[in-house]
Amino acid sequence: MEKWLIGFGALIIAVLGITVAALLRGSNQITENNATISNQEDNKMAETNQNNNKSLVVYFSRTGENYGVGEISVGNTAMMADYIAEYTSADKFEIVSVKPYPNNYQETVDIATEERNSNARPEYVGDIDIAYYDIIFLGYPIWWSDMPMIVYSFLDNHDFSGKMVIPFNTHEGSGSSGTYQKLQSELSGATVRDGLALSGSTARTDSGKRQTLNWLKDLGF
Ligand SMILES: Cc1cc2nc3c(=O)[nH]c(=O)nc-3n(C[C@H](O)[C@H](O)[C@H](O)COP(=O)(O)O)c2cc1C
Repeated sequence: MEKWLIGFGALIIAVLGITVAALLRGSNQITENNATISNQEDNKMAETNQNNNKSLVVYFSRTGENYGVGEISVGNTAMMADYIAEYTSADKFEIVSVKPYPNNYQETVDIATEERNSNARPEYVGDIDIAYYDIIFLGYPIWWSDMPMIVYSFLDNHDFSGKMVIPFNTHEGSGSSGTYQKLQSELSGATVRDGLALSGSTARTDSGKRQTLNWLKDLGF
């Protein structure tokens, strides 16, 4: 075969090869660009959800000696509060007593009894303006078949009208002890949704976390 013909053939093959490579690269770029666009859209949706969400988790929870689960540095209700805030991207406000409850269980029980008998409104540290939020998750342990009095302090200090309140609580056998209905009558201008009650020990387990997330999914989060 003539040399020029071999050279020409090689040239054609090289040009074809470059064209095919360029086409392939182009199609990869399109795929990559589409992936980028869809990631950007996902991010935008996540941002919109966060902005529309305007959810707040308010909770009271005690650390120290606990009757059911021993010595704890994160309270049972605080565990649930964390699952909820993490899943819904909600802000968090912890109700912390100005006068800390003792580490000792029995001493706390004595103080709680006194607070309940005197219908006290214990002071808490700082505060949060709830006006910005549409949805307020409210968490507490059951104390004497009711919410701790310091939770009533928070309720008294805020206007819940127009808010959606979603309660959650931990306990050692009392369930929610009628507190969700109580909340609805306390906060007449708010809509109180059905809450989730977990035993203190369950709240600390994977199962407790799963139950909390399933409950949130059922609520539409
Ligand atoms: C003062 C006090 C009273 C309590 N009263 C009840 C009660 O009436 N019913 C119940 O099921 N659990 C009762 N408990 C147990 C707590 O509800 C339970 O340990 C809860 O998980 C504690 O949550 P925390 O770790 O978030 O504070 C009481 C605990 C304390 C300290």
